[in-house]
Amino acid sequence: MEVEVYLSGYHVDEDDVRDKTVVVIDVLRTSTTAAAALHNGARAVVPAADMAEAGKIAANLDPTSYTLGGERSGLKIEGYRFGNSPLEYTRDTIGGKTLILNTTNGTPTIRRCRHAANLVIGGFVNLRLVADFLRDDGHDVVIVCAGWRNRVSLEDTLCAGMLLHELWGGFEPSGTSDTGHIAFTLFTNEEADIPGALRRSTHGRRLMAMGRADDVAFCASVDTVPVLPVYGESRLTAREIPESVVPFA
Ligand code: MLT
Repeated sequence: MEVEVYLSGYHVDEDDVRDKTVVVIDVLRTSTTAAAALHNGARAVVPAADMAEAGKIAANLDPTSYTLGGERSGLKIEGYRFGNSPLEYTRDTIGGKTLILNTTNGTPTIRRCRHAANLVIGGFVNLRLVADFLRDDGHDVVIVCAGWRNRVSLEDTLCAGMLLHELWGGFEPSGTSDTGHIAFTLFTNEEADIPGALRRSTHGRRLMAMGRADDVAFCASVDTVPVLPVYGESRLTAREIPESVVPFA
């Protein structure tokens, strides 16, 4: 299996992902929110590229069937029911509903990767399920970190590094690209304290200044949400976990 890592979602175009198995990582917080919403019974999460697309998606759905959630620069979008905190999406708020999700970097990155052969969403909370899926799938992999407004994010790069570490049994993949090397090296430097690294990251500090320290802690927890969101027909749904896989035993 070959693997390539993009450190910002803005660096990727259609040809980079075509025929590939792609993992989009937006640890703070889109990946974590999508996994949490599906885990708590959302029928689907529909990622929107921007405000206009979110509006169009909503206009085509029965108003009782969906909830609009999303943020700009971390703050809930005015007029939306929810923001992008994974902790908002409980069984009571999202069970049985479709979540239309519109975020600064995460959902546009997912939309940009929509022509991949397989597209899954990963974070620390479902890392092992992502690794198991990639191992079984066996295709070449492209890991796309959403980053922040065309910049690299520590938390997404760290998670990409952990995924490489998990897939190659603790070794750096041989012949990996510079971006793979950067991600792997970052992980080996920070692995002893992932929550601390997220608290020190630029977006972690931004969220904590908004009073969202609980989100940062949740997004840093490893293998706590046993759901693999997969993209198909313009939406994310939870991939059924094969019986042979005991989630996080
Ligand atoms: C993003 O798309 O950049 C985010 O997930 C930001 C956030 O919710 O804090």
